[in-house]
Amino acid sequence: MDGSLKLGHTYSLTGEYRLDQITILLMRGRELAKGDLVYVKHPKNHEPVLYQVTKVFPHKRVREYEESLLSEGKLIFDVDDSALHAEAYQWGWMDNDGSVRPLRFPLPPNIPVYLAERQLVEKFTKPSGDWKFLLGTDPSTELDVELGLYPLIRQSCLICGSVGTGKTTTAVSMIARAVNVSPPVRFLIVDKDGEYSSLIENLGVDKALKVPWSSFFQAGDIPWDDYLAEFGWQKTWWNSKILFQALKILYSQSAPVTKTNLKKVLQLVDSDKLGFNKKEDEFELYRMQVQNAIFMSKLIPLETSDVLDPVKLLKDRLVVVMDLSDGKDTWEQKHIVVAQVLRKIFNEALENRKFGCIVVLEEAMYYAPQHGVFEIGEKESRGRLLSVIKEIATNGGRNGIGLWVVTQRLATVEKTVITQCANNIICHSLEDLDKQRLAEIMGQEFIDLIGDLPPGEAVVKGTALKCKFPIWVKVLPEVYPASSLSTPMSRFIHMNSQIN
Ligand SMILES: Nc1ncnc2c1ncn2[C@@H]1O[C@H](COP(=O)(O)OP(=O)(O)O)[C@@H](O)[C@H]1O
Ligand SMILES: [Mg+2]
Repeated sequence: MDGSLKLGHTYSLTGEYRLDQITILLMRGRELAKGDLVYVKHPKNHEPVLYQVTKVFPHKRVREYEESLLSEGKLIFDVDDSALHAEAYQWGWMDNDGSVRPLRFPLPPNIPVYLAERQLVEKFTKPSGDWKFLLGTDPSTELDVELGLYPLIRQSCLICGSVGTGKTTTAVSMIARAVNVSPPVRFLIVDKDGEYSSLIENLGVDKALKVPWSSFFQAGDIPWDDYLAEFGWQKTWWNSKILFQALKILYSQSAPVTKTNLKKVLQLVDSDKLGFNKKEDEFELYRMQVQNAIFMSKLIPLETSDVLDPVKLLKDRLVVVMDLSDGKDTWEQKHIVVAQVLRKIFNEALENRKFGCIVVLEEAMYYAPQHGVFEIGEKESRGRLLSVIKEIATNGGRNGIGLWVVTQRLATVEKTVITQCANNIICHSLEDLDKQRLAEIMGQEFIDLIGDLPPGEAVVKGTALKCKFPIWVKVLPEVYPASSLSTPMSRFIHMNSQIN
């Protein structure tokens, strides 16, 4: 600590000195940047008390005659007349047990402020233990920023930022590193646009598998009302009664719900038993309508053939990518299937103490939309999916299911999900509207630190870091999202080469 670089002194325009925040008047030639860590000595035990810089600004002494000089067009350039100021807020000091405590004793005015050197910052920021991975480096100290895995499962994680700021690159790189620690973490990725297929190449097919969403579909698990919703029928209609009767027969035979099986048992439905007392011809017409609807249904598979079990897949591989990029206008079905997969995984974790994984939701607003802000699919299926996501967000962690949510718009994702996941946050540059939203959860200091970050840089805060304060990080990519393999320009180069 002795021999640390002295930057300047605490200073106050009003004469009032606060503890939670200090203003530093920098000595000539000294520099500071937003995010930097500085310290003053504890007035009693002389331990360093850390402060993080949120603002740096020049301050020029105001002179009344300056205004009249300027209005005359006369300019006096006086270097000694302005000084650099910085504002910083308190992190605290570390006691002998390694816990960070807030300073409670008043600080005398004009005390020296030093730059916090690497070893000191490291003591405050490096997570303990070995179950952790690298996220990137802190540009102000060049220190590695590592995240502990336990809190990332126990308390989930929110990765946010506007379009093109590096969210997916961050998420995909975090996953690639987390499967290479010991013991490796397992992931189920709900991948809206096929962005995570680059993980398959990076990790190899033994470790990672990409599955089209429809392969997870379990027709037998569908509540019968969902078929009515698909066909647009009311429960009281004869079509519905006939369909339910056919499903009951299938159920009693313990046969799976498929188009082929349903067609067979449909012939066994008896008009008298249903209490149909009109002409038999009319009943046959209804039966035909049901048969046609079954034939056209997207919810009912032709054969049971190969419905995949996500739990089984996760026992054999580290990463399962559920690819939702196929089928543009089928959000209702996608919601049903994602809900089935998540429910299955969560139930397994509740029953089996030897099972766990992290669920990654890319573009979370498509699965957990905030009511009244964003709507997609149908009310019923969307509601069922939201309820399982909320359950995982609130109870998943303690049952071995972590939730990592990737989103560009904070207001569009359901509030509970955002607040639960915000225990760990990796925040890239945000639109002003989302900054306001985030300020409600994280506080204004956090928003001040974000400012305008370039792509690939983020502010991280949460239980996965040792300290509970935000750190600036330049994310080190391990893998890039699949979309980065073709840039807009490369597409036109390709099209041009086809002509020549
Ligand atoms: N950490 C990073 N380092 C360097 N370049 C990055 C980084 N993160 C993102 N990029 C660049 O920015 C582009 C957009 O990143 P991406 O992760 O797809 O953004 P988002 O998911 O937020 O839309 C990538 O193709 C890549 O070229
Ligand atoms: Mg993305």
